[in-house]
Amino acid sequence: MSDDLISLLLSTLEEKPDNDRVRVQVVTQLLKARRYAEAVEHATPLRVTEHKGLAKLAGAHLANSQGELETARVLYKEAITSDRKLIDEQLETELEGVAKVPVSGLEDDKREEHENENRLRVTFAEIGGMEALKEKIRLNILYPLQKPEIYAAYGKKIGGGLLLYGPPGCGKTHLARATAGEIGANFYLLSLNEVLSMWIGESEKQLSNLFKTARDHAPSVIFIDEVDALGGKRSDMHSHHSRSMVSQFLIEMDGMVADNQKVMVLGATNMPWNVDSALRRPGRFDKVLFVPPPDKPAREQILSIHTKGRKIDSSVRLADIAAKTDHFSGADLAHLVELATERALSEALKSGNLRDITNHDFQAALKESKPSTMEWLRRAKNYVNFANQDGMYDDLDQYLEKARIR
Ligand SMILES: Nc1ncnc2c1ncn2[C@@H]1O[C@H](COP(=O)(O)OP(=O)(O)OP(=O)(O)O)[C@@H](O)[C@H]1O
Ligand SMILES: [Mg+2]
Repeated sequence: MSDDLISLLLSTLEEKPDNDRVRVQVVTQLLKARRYAEAVEHATPLRVTEHKGLAKLAGAHLANSQGELETARVLYKEAITSDRKLIDEQLETELEGVAKVPVSGLEDDKREEHENENRLRVTFAEIGGMEALKEKIRLNILYPLQKPEIYAAYGKKIGGGLLLYGPPGCGKTHLARATAGEIGANFYLLSLNEVLSMWIGESEKQLSNLFKTARDHAPSVIFIDEVDALGGKRSDMHSHHSRSMVSQFLIEMDGMVADNQKVMVLGATNMPWNVDSALRRPGRFDKVLFVPPPDKPAREQILSIHTKGRKIDSSVRLADIAAKTDHFSGADLAHLVELATERALSEALKSGNLRDITNHDFQAALKESKPSTMEWLRRAKNYVNFANQDGMYDDLDQYLEKARIR
């Protein structure tokens, strides 16, 4: 979104300082442009309106940008409590990333606070489609945590991790977060690339701290993003370093299976072919699941989730848009809704007429958009052809056949 639009918005606001809708747009766009101090300034009058959540969100961003993480967390929590639509995955990850890792060094009362942050509940209801995946996650992660005695009665060992892989933006992280939210388990997120670069030389300790914290606060779900960063095939500066991470990781995972702890591990990667094969042995990431781009019904659901609360004209038929967005990722669909919204918004700013978002806006947005998953799918095709000896990619293979990716 351009500075032009922001200038236009600001001058509109100057003329109509009492128009909360315009003010909301001003603040939203300033946040997008990372102009946090200005966003906070313009958000001040919103504190006493129904949009107070947005004012808190602006505060959270500003605090985060100034390194005041505690304040940022408190404000963010208040913001999303007041309006769940304000959930900001990026900010959340930033706030969590810092909080999660060094947690075992914290005092007990700080740890309580930390635990309270696990509250940012997303559940399966907020994930469009993916029914088969949700069911597999229930069987492998949720039921074992909820009903361990039944598994024990059948002599079935609990534990081992589930590795999600697939093209970017198709909901891996979203799904993992919802898995914890679904049963109110604590959620611990660890992004491996971040850990490897932030904690050179200390990563193993951080990793083992994380597992310990998760055990102490069971039931919990540990989500390890970018598992491929542990790949032995990488030749960059992390490579030697990451070998000892792999060892530490294996120790933690194997230990977990042995003790039957109420801790489940989910991993995610865009590059499963780079994941160290030692990580895929029994008891480790022994179940591997492909997270595909959403199918048509799922796309319609995702569009409906992302258009909730917006001024949508009755000419808009989400089913038709879903039909025209083959191979679009969830993130692509969210972006499409943003584009259509921005069209209506910038016209409203010029004319002063707050019209709804029409089918025409969506069609124009469609012309500007294309699916971001194709490159990944084509690349994946090669790996399926040449590296599927152990059947790891069977579900991906079926998908590629059906989608006619060559
Ligand atoms: N099934 C879905 N239902 C609703 N929203 C979705 C869905 N899939 C993706 N999204 C939207 O797309 C965004 C990106 O999804 P997410 O971050 O989970 O993708 P990812 O697979 O983890 O991507 P990456 O590989 O880049 O990490 C989410 O924040 C959400 O807004
Ligand atoms: Mg992700």
